[in-house]
Amino acid sequence: MHNTTVDTNQTFDITRVRDLFPILDQQVNGHPLVYFDNAATTQKPIQVIESLNSYYKGYNANIHRGIHSLAEKATVAYESTRESVMNFINAPEKEEIIFTKGTSESINLVAATYGRTNLNTGDEVIISGMEHHSNIVPWQLICEEKGAELKVVRISDSGEFQMEEFAGLLSDKTKIVAVGYASNALGSINPVAEIIEMAHRYGAVVLLDAAQAVAHLDVDVKKLNCDFFAFSGHKMYGPTGVGVLYGKRKLLEAMPPYQGGGEMIKEVTFERTTYADIPYKFEAGTPNIADVIALKPAIEFLNNLGKKNIHTHEENLLQHATERLREIKKVNIYADISNKVSVLSFTLENMHAFDAGILLDARGIAIRTGHHCTQPLMARFGIEGTIRASFAAYNTVEEVDQLADAVEKISNR
Ligand SMILES: Cc1ncc(COP(=O)(O)O)c(C=O)c1O
Repeated sequence: MHNTTVDTNQTFDITRVRDLFPILDQQVNGHPLVYFDNAATTQKPIQVIESLNSYYKGYNANIHRGIHSLAEKATVAYESTRESVMNFINAPEKEEIIFTKGTSESINLVAATYGRTNLNTGDEVIISGMEHHSNIVPWQLICEEKGAELKVVRISDSGEFQMEEFAGLLSDKTKIVAVGYASNALGSINPVAEIIEMAHRYGAVVLLDAAQAVAHLDVDVKKLNCDFFAFSGHKMYGPTGVGVLYGKRKLLEAMPPYQGGGEMIKEVTFERTTYADIPYKFEAGTPNIADVIALKPAIEFLNNLGKKNIHTHEENLLQHATERLREIKKVNIYADISNKVSVLSFTLENMHAFDAGILLDARGIAIRTGHHCTQPLMARFGIEGTIRASFAAYNTVEEVDQLADAVEKISNR
């Protein structure tokens, strides 16, 4: 029997939530769209779409340097998102919020600036075995350049971060610890507060890749005491092309710029350039104005629904999906654990993930298949990839049942 664990969250009016997402109201391959690829990117509520529209229709202008009215309006809107982001993650100061184009760029920025200045031969950077390539490759690049070593915390059979492993790797050589808040491939939520505390005991700084956390969990960078915090707008109901790097003021001020160009300078002569104060030192060139502005309504959407309500709703979907898929003989679930964001990763014994993806798409169900940019994690489990369903605020129990029914059917082919 399927429905035993389904708890309809009374504070959560799913019909009203879905009405905010025009894209959901469509047929794909003759079936109503079931969108379960939210860990790759979420859909956008109408407020975000309208924000983009109204910027381009009403006040498109370059920011910061203009004295005319449109430039002023665009600047105010852009800077007001910075304040929203500050409150959203509980950062102490708005100058500690840097706009980037996404998590990848945020991590690359830290590796190329903090990493390049602070890593030396023999130093170590620790990451975990479940990292997204975006939190592996930038560290490989900088370690290679500086003669530092990349250490990896192995993941348990159940897909969890192993604290004892981590404790064993920490030493005075550790300069940077860079770990995911939650895994995009498995959903596992990592014990980031303890990781940060332990790393700090050795004087290492900690970067959290929060790409998969911000849309699901309450986030408080001040309480966590993390040094850097990276995330993408498009995975939290905002537009593509905008991301955030939070960094502690003291660290950001000591770091050299990432890129040179307009906006990031105080004064330029051919002999010497002085740099702007943070955050502008790290925002060279014309930024992604429209998308930064449209990130604010995405944050408002999350705040209005409430992370706790979203989490309860998604947790119900995840539990229901997990129970349904456990009943299907040929399904193997990865990280079948309780402390997860709403990601369900599985394989089918008799079918390649890619083929399953095609068959599900034929039924209007959008899931992701493959290595999810976590090839070392897939290698650790001895697989090429998984089928990943990831749930968002607008998904329903009925959709989960459609997925489970479809998986049951295709697994019996
Ligand atoms: C955990 C994690 N880190 C980093 C990234 C990279 O994010 P972006 O492609 O937005 O830079 C992703 C995207 O899937 C992710 O899931």
